[in-house]
Amino acid sequence: MADTMVETTRPIVSVRDLAVEFRQHTGIVRALEAVSLDLHPGRVLGVVGESGCGKSVTARAMLRILDRNGSITAGRVTLDPGTAAEQDLTALEPEGAQIRSVRGGRIGLIFQEPMAALSMQYTVGNQLMEAIRVHRDPGKAKARERAISLLNEVGIPRPETRIDAYPFQLSGGLRQRVGIALALAAEPDVLIADEPTTALDVTTQAQILALLRRLQRDKQIALMLITHDMGVIAQMADDVAVMYLGRIVEFAPVRELFKHPQHPYTRALLRSVPNLDATPRQRLATIGGAVPQPGSRPVGCPFHPRCPEAIPGRCDTMVPAPVPPGAAGASCFLVEDAAA
Ligand SMILES: Nc1ncnc2c1ncn2[C@@H]1O[C@H](COP(=O)(O)OP(=O)(O)OP(=O)(O)O)[C@@H](O)[C@H]1O
Ligand code: SF4
Ligand SMILES: [Mg+2]
Repeated sequence: MADTMVETTRPIVSVRDLAVEFRQHTGIVRALEAVSLDLHPGRVLGVVGESGCGKSVTARAMLRILDRNGSITAGRVTLDPGTAAEQDLTALEPEGAQIRSVRGGRIGLIFQEPMAALSMQYTVGNQLMEAIRVHRDPGKAKARERAISLLNEVGIPRPETRIDAYPFQLSGGLRQRVGIALALAAEPDVLIADEPTTALDVTTQAQILALLRRLQRDKQIALMLITHDMGVIAQMADDVAVMYLGRIVEFAPVRELFKHPQHPYTRALLRSVPNLDATPRQRLATIGGAVPQPGSRPVGCPFHPRCPEAIPGRCDTMVPAPVPPGAAGASCFLVEDAAA
């Protein structure tokens, strides 16, 4: 068992058996099922999967920012598990003061489109200073100094003048740097970055990823990095959770995942790396079919209609057990059989 354990330090966030449903006029859509994962200080968890697999819903459920028609129907999201301060975020009021102090306080958020976090109407400095002062108000002058130093930290040239710019006056790359500065304003222990570089050109993407990695290491932040790009995973992640149709189908340290992928879906993702771009619900190069809509979830293993190794009579009737949290593994009968 010891060689499959991924990390033995205490996690700072621990998600267990999380399930999310959305109400639609056509009925209930199950978007997440039995999702378990841990975020550890100083480590990067990469979350990867095709479009519609539930990566963003996982992050949004953890932070209680699901769309209004969505609800958490099972599971827990524990901050500081096993300590006197532990709290279950699923038990908090979604608009309440407690979750708001966690969001943007303990847990910083970085979006694909930085404008999701930034307002057009206020200067970069005003927004940064507000974020700084909400969490630990050092007074206006000190907050401005800190805002300038944050801009400097995220590699924005001439921060003492840029601080008075409006977000729309900045390039996409600079805006994402401001987005990162904003996420760091309250000195969070955890960062959740949802496709932080997808909207950027390749060169800027590499710079932003390098910046994130450096900040994460320097500050020993637990980073959850959501991406559909196996190249980004290879470059950034320590551990990887592969998602398919609202479930984590494989979890492993990054080297192990690339060397010995266990789940047929992970193998397919790895084979199709050069073609894995942002086109929604694009067909993978090496496996037929597209991700089904969660509303028409297949019976049995969710991957069986596309799985080249599906066992008739078994994979189309029974669901393999979820990956046990904290250990490397895959949710697949072939893997279960090999272990037995
Ligand atoms: N408000 C909603 N109402 C109904 N279904 C929703 C809602 N929000 C998300 N979903 C569904 O939940 C599933 C998971 O969506 P999610 O946004 O988490 O995918 P993703 O893995 O982040 O994909 P992408 O790579 O495109 O960002 C999708 O099938 C989506 O249609
Ligand atoms: S359980 Fe069956 S269908 Fe599902 S991934 Fe494994 S072999 Fe394929
Ligand atoms: Mg998403």
